[in-house]
Amino acid sequence: MKVLVTGGAGYIGSTTAAELLRRGHEVVVLDSLVRGHRAAVPTGAAFVHGDIADRSVLVPILAEARFDALVHFAAFAYVGESMSEPAMYLDNNVARSLVLFREALSHGVRRIVFSSSCTVYGLPARLPLDESHPKAALSPYGASKIMCEQALRWFADATPDLSAVALRYFNAAGATEERGEDHDPETHLIPLAIDAAMGHSEPLVIFGDDYDTKDGTCLRDYVHILDLAEAHALSVEAGDHEGFHAYNVGAGRAYSVREVLAEIEAVSGRPVPFKVGPRREGDAPALFAGTELIRDRLGWRAKFSSLARIVSDAVRWHPQSSTASVDRGE
Ligand code: UD1
Repeated sequence: MKVLVTGGAGYIGSTTAAELLRRGHEVVVLDSLVRGHRAAVPTGAAFVHGDIADRSVLVPILAEARFDALVHFAAFAYVGESMSEPAMYLDNNVARSLVLFREALSHGVRRIVFSSSCTVYGLPARLPLDESHPKAALSPYGASKIMCEQALRWFADATPDLSAVALRYFNAAGATEERGEDHDPETHLIPLAIDAAMGHSEPLVIFGDDYDTKDGTCLRDYVHILDLAEAHALSVEAGDHEGFHAYNVGAGRAYSVREVLAEIEAVSGRPVPFKVGPRREGDAPALFAGTELIRDRLGWRAKFSSLARIVSDAVRWHPQSSTASVDRGE
């Protein structure tokens, strides 16, 4: 199939583009490079530099390529930044996505896969989080994901042959040989803790150790980017899949912050210096996915998402580790 991947210079987008190529699809990456890295775009994918809402860029590529599928990653993804810059998030993540969706639909694209997040659920009322859990945005970032999902639901209602899939990621983590996490600024636990272990940053601050969990720190569901990439590929390839579908993509189990630090110490052979700080506003004590739906509908299950595999791949790839590659994704 011919697949347009927006945000294909980012961490998850570039890994998915590589997986689609590996499976024999033709891939065009559209990325503004505002947050992504040109070097992360896989060899074999055509690259177009531009914004998803710039019709002077978008319309010619849609008209020429006649894509079978759109996989839409391009978005801002910092919860904290979205609280201080809500208009920027609503403009970039919602308004611009609507331009993209509208143009893609009018050019005959009938498969859309959208990068959503478990943040759509807000604070969990029950665990594991299944897809029918009520949605509650705690930030403009979360709201932007809910709004795009809702738009896709309406588009699917109005377009009987459209398959629209929202993949609600839990904590994307890990690396491949070529790609890993490289956000600026970095806010995610695993790369920050590896940095601290390598002595290239201040000690990690654990955001609270007084939660009602086994060791007092928050529990999260870490899912390897190779598993995430496969979930996108299966969504693109699914047959008899018309309508709107939202699937959780997580490993279905949770690890505490302290367990993650212990694994980094075991893999790297270096202690992770840390301090315990106050809780971070908006953090749920525990989040993990129910994944029955994606397993039943797409045959997906996590294969690479053990904590040992995630951490060993992240440490191997990390810029400060001796074997780090230069080809880095957001
Ligand atoms: C965050 C977002 C989530 C988004 C996801 C992927 C928030 C509240 N949630 O998830 O919406 O979908 O990223 O981009 O921002 N931690 C520390 N010290 C640190 C960093 C993290 O203790 O310096 C802890 C956090 O409290 C959390 C865990 O580590 O319990 C993971 O944090 P992080 O990597 O930031 O991801 P989430 O906050 O779970």
